Amino acid sequence: MDRLSITGGHPLNGQIAISGAKNSALKLMVASLLTPEPLTLTNVPNLADTRFLAQLLATLGVEVYWPKGAHECHLNAETLSSTIAPYDQVRKMRASFNVLGPMLARYGHATVSLPGGCAIGARPVDLHLKALSAMGADLLVEGGYVKAAAIHGLKGAHVVFPFVSVGATEHAMMAATLAQGTTVLENAAREPEISDLADCLNKMGARVSGAGTATLRIEGVATLKGTRHAVMPDRIEAGTFAMAAAAAGGDVTLTQAPVGVLGALIDALEQAGVTVEADRAAGTLRIVRGATALRAVSINTQPHPGFPTDLQAQFMALMSLADGTSIIRETIFENRFMHAPELSRLGASIEVGGREAVVKGVETLRGAPVMATDLRASVSLVIAALAAEGRTEVSRIYHLDRGFERLEDKLAACGAAIERLSGDEG
Ligand code: UD1
Repeated sequence: MDRLSITGGHPLNGQIAISGAKNSALKLMVASLLTPEPLTLTNVPNLADTRFLAQLLATLGVEVYWPKGAHECHLNAETLSSTIAPYDQVRKMRASFNVLGPMLARYGHATVSLPGGCAIGARPVDLHLKALSAMGADLLVEGGYVKAAAIHGLKGAHVVFPFVSVGATEHAMMAATLAQGTTVLENAAREPEISDLADCLNKMGARVSGAGTATLRIEGVATLKGTRHAVMPDRIEAGTFAMAAAAAGGDVTLTQAPVGVLGALIDALEQAGVTVEADRAAGTLRIVRGATALRAVSINTQPHPGFPTDLQAQFMALMSLADGTSIIRETIFENRFMHAPELSRLGASIEVGGREAVVKGVETLRGAPVMATDLRASVSLVIAALAAEGRTEVSRIYHLDRGFERLEDKLAACGAAIERLSGDEG
């Protein structure tokens, strides 16, 4: 297993180009199942997760043409060879579960394993199933699989989600595009990736309106066609590099950045005393931090447009170096503080109680061996290590490879002392 070796204390200076959004790309790739015509996606990030989903789609019979290293991915689901998504391919990544609705909508039946994914709480799929069932699907959960059928097709329905779920909103939206009649989704997620997916679906001939608001309206159509769509830039990657620059100090400009959807993070960084220059039209975000101390800022994670849970771990790393105490509340996931004890190994002072972490800023962090526990947690360790004195070795970075494209190259190009070490610890 690869590790990262990071020697802290080098400010970051330069430019970093932001890749396509992992979370958007995954759902857009799944959308290929809705049409017998080719879907071409550009700006697709080369990541373990996106490659993994491409494999699952290929298993189902989708023709996938996506050369190594390329960012353009061609998917053609003209005919599927199977509508069964096996356990081995769904358990590793939760987003794979979203193949259920599109296959059901197009073929009238599908069998998909219950998902696994990051170890951040129970993460059930009850809302996904509730929405499909409201659309007339017969669902049977048996032996770890969901067996779904809608012999006469899915029907438009009125679904009120009891709380916001990104995955369930996207799943229901995709299935509803091919249902008979109109579906209304209330208390829908407003994440920018939902709008990206809705844009692509509309280009495919779907009739989705209201994306970006809490009410989505989808008028079902008989068939969808192929299209070409560019994946939106990754707001989580952009936010992560912004915090890396804020922690290590320096002057970094993020290019191809989704500036307009990073409001909550930009506010928090500015409150912490970091200079942020956002140019929405140019898609650039400049982060400058000199010798000034960071101020402690408290945050609650919230559905979009609130502070994203996927940036919580990174913000905690930053706050561990702030002047004062910050309180970080995680309201989305129940067990998403696994990075706290690892950050403490670097000298951070963090006390976790339930869904709240109290972070008392310290003057210096010191390098130590640490272990990545999930995708976003692992990158918080990288951020802390960049700002720490001495050398840190982060093990189990396969978590990082799931969601960050060429992370170490992008940081090294800005002056970070970071290198990938192959194989296990010596
Ligand atoms: C997506 C993102 C993930 C992000 C999360 C919240 C992808 C691939 N992943 O995950 O990076 O952290 O949104 O912004 O896009 N829940 C239920 N029942 C359900 C569905 C969800 O109880 O049927 C709960 C979850 O356990 C969680 C909360 O709802 O506590 C929100 O989860 P959800 O928004 O669905 O997250 P994902 O779509 O899985």
